[in-house]
Amino acid sequence: MKIVHTINDLQSELSQLKAQGKMVGLVPTMGALHAGHASLVKRSVAENDVTVVSIFVNPTQFNDKNDLEKYPRTLKEDCLLLDECGANFAFVPSVAEMYPEPDTRQFSYAPLDTVMEGAFRPGHFNGVCQIVTKLFDAVLPHRAYFGEKDFQQLAIIREMVRQENYALEIIGCPIVREADGLAMSSRNTRLSYEERKNALKISQTLFESRTFAAEHTVAETKQFVEDAIAAAPGLELEYFQLVDGNTLQPISAWDETTYAVGCITVFCGEVRLIDNIKYKE
Ligand code: PAF
Repeated sequence: MKIVHTINDLQSELSQLKAQGKMVGLVPTMGALHAGHASLVKRSVAENDVTVVSIFVNPTQFNDKNDLEKYPRTLKEDCLLLDECGANFAFVPSVAEMYPEPDTRQFSYAPLDTVMEGAFRPGHFNGVCQIVTKLFDAVLPHRAYFGEKDFQQLAIIREMVRQENYALEIIGCPIVREADGLAMSSRNTRLSYEERKNALKISQTLFESRTFAAEHTVAETKQFVEDAIAAAPGLELEYFQLVDGNTLQPISAWDETTYAVGCITVFCGEVRLIDNIKYKE
């Protein structure tokens, strides 16, 4: 696997391969890679001739400076994992390479980006769209791979691709969980032993709520999750929303949609964890 640091170098490598008719898959990441990322990379390797994985902790999507500073950075281990997965290029640009000048572009995909993460992390999705468009423009991939753990991000990127007429396919990949059920996240490495035990209650509650939902209303199911997290040691619920998986707008009855998803954000100590579960699809 080649490690490339500049857009110019990456484009000259890719232009030769594209001239030979090779299909290019892109997996955008912020590094601190785990088995969830590996599943995206392996899928891209299986579906394309060339796989580019970007590793870039994007400052414009962090609305909390502390979160940006504490974001884990493990480039050496990341490159080993990418090599094992069969990636061809790790694109590891500097901040100056991606933002030679401040990016003043504004992306707005209301109402998708005004709820949940959009409401609690103002500017977050604008920053995500800024970097993802820069990566799409640099790589011009045929396919790009994103995890369903960031359910709202995936919906917004799909909408962005539709509205901006990008000629590429977005592939959403299922959440990968630890053996005990906790959704894999780069942030999990920041959990202490005690916090890691407490965090398990998030996925457990979501799974239990799916059984509960079969016999209860949307409001009762929401209450069930809120009560379970409130009673769990060391966890603080930011939000739990039951939404239509396409519009991301809250639902009030199960028969309002054929695609019902529960999205949750919980603080486990200082670490902000997100997860989601499908009730109907
Ligand atoms: O999901 C992520 O890791 C990031 O939001 C992304 C898509 C790589 C953009 O920085």
